[in-house]
Amino acid sequence: MRVSLNSTTPLPTSLQKESDTTISPLDVCNIHISVDGNGHNKYPAKQHARKVARKLGVTSGLIYLVGQATINWADSDQPRPFRQKRYFYYLSGSDDADCFLTYDIKNELLSLYIPDFDLHRAIWNGPTITKEEAEEKYDVDRVHYHASLQSDIEKWVNKHNDFDLIYILHEDQKPTVPSRNLKLNGKQLLPAMDAARGVKDAHEIQLIRKANEISGLAHTRVLENISKMANEAEIEGVYLNSCISQGAKSQSYEIIAGSGENAATLHYVKNNEPLKGRQLVCLDAGAEWNCYASDVTRTFPLEGQWPSDHTRNIYQVVEKMQEECIKRIKKGIRFLDLHNLAHTIAIEGLLELGILRRGTVDEIRDSGASKVFFPHGLGHHVGLEVHDVSEQSIMALHGAHEYSPILNPATCFSPCTLSAPVLEEGMIVTVEPGIYFSRPALANAQKQPFAKYINFELAKEYIPVGGVRIEDDILVTTKGYENLTTAPKGSEMLEIIRRGS
Ligand code: GLY
Ligand code: MN
Ligand code: MN
Repeated sequence: MRVSLNSTTPLPTSLQKESDTTISPLDVCNIHISVDGNGHNKYPAKQHARKVARKLGVTSGLIYLVGQATINWADSDQPRPFRQKRYFYYLSGSDDADCFLTYDIKNELLSLYIPDFDLHRAIWNGPTITKEEAEEKYDVDRVHYHASLQSDIEKWVNKHNDFDLIYILHEDQKPTVPSRNLKLNGKQLLPAMDAARGVKDAHEIQLIRKANEISGLAHTRVLENISKMANEAEIEGVYLNSCISQGAKSQSYEIIAGSGENAATLHYVKNNEPLKGRQLVCLDAGAEWNCYASDVTRTFPLEGQWPSDHTRNIYQVVEKMQEECIKRIKKGIRFLDLHNLAHTIAIEGLLELGILRRGTVDEIRDSGASKVFFPHGLGHHVGLEVHDVSEQSIMALHGAHEYSPILNPATCFSPCTLSAPVLEEGMIVTVEPGIYFSRPALANAQKQPFAKYINFELAKEYIPVGGVRIEDDILVTTKGYENLTTAPKGSEMLEIIRRGS
């Protein structure tokens, strides 16, 4: 239960420090008692603003954020599809175009500036949100029309800017107050917001859970129909139809529907080749819900059984990599250790199949040979971005070099990276091991010192398998973890395909 107070009367310091208490200098005093942070199950923008201020480590100043403007494609009168800036959404919950916001840190006053009424826009595109609607919808203290933005900032600057800073995200997002030299800080806000965003609150978790449910149902629709499909494009179509029909108009990233060898291309997005003769499909697709991502991969055959020993064997190795890593997730774990474990299981599996040879697990790991088959990170944070932001660690691991054979800086994101802090309760990370048989990766491997560990003749036989990746979104909890991804996998997945055949 939370209490929100708005009053002109200064409150006792003890109350002011209570993180669930809103104090702002309004003319009226009103009290809301609620069960969800802001009384209306609204997106908790105010709570986020306070969290960012805490991460900034200051008690006064003004945060100034610019929302995404409406922009046309180059040389066109057609607007680009709108995508709200994620930092802006985090502090406003507003998915409206052409907005701004300020947060007065000392007075805990969060103000949203919405577009002025525009008759032409109202006739052609529908009216933009009104002040009353925005007040009802968003967890902010004040809503103003854009017309008052400049003068409000000017007033704040005249009152405070001799001793307080204005915090901006980027140098090109400065407020304009022509008559003044503003004291701006463009360095601290971004890392403070990244640190705040790394750990999710209950509301954010619900949004990611919902995004996963939508993706899970859409993946199921594909499995039910895959045996009747003839082209990768149909996979994309059936998947998207399901998401959009459930109200999820946006995807968190471009859909990857790669069959056969295409599954070895990590970000294959053409999705236009015939399925005939292909052994597996790798579908990496996650819907977005209220700007929050899901990130889900399933790899499956076209019929309800594995078409070859090769496909079943590789699926089982990847399944083991994923299961062993997921079950170890809990607060305090270093994700990089799980990435390392996934490599160990991959090497053991590939040694057993004879694809790797002539070395111990440690020798092969230290040579970098396993990176040929598992070139990306075990996972990443998921949130407002599919590859979400988080705090960077202030201390690098000692003996960092020992991880370089299994870490590719270009493809291994935080929290797999050397400098990532340990997992905290409320973080959401993907666990997405994969094994791929990529022609360019194998050709390059033949020229490397670790080539002696790879049986290239046998690896070539696996090229039609393409690749297997299995990806779930995992919430770190007090006791361990919760898997938010509901898309069927393993034997349940095969059974659904069989029923659809
Ligand atoms: N879908 C992109 C990724 O898995 O990271
Ligand atoms: Mn991912
Ligand atoms: Mn993915």
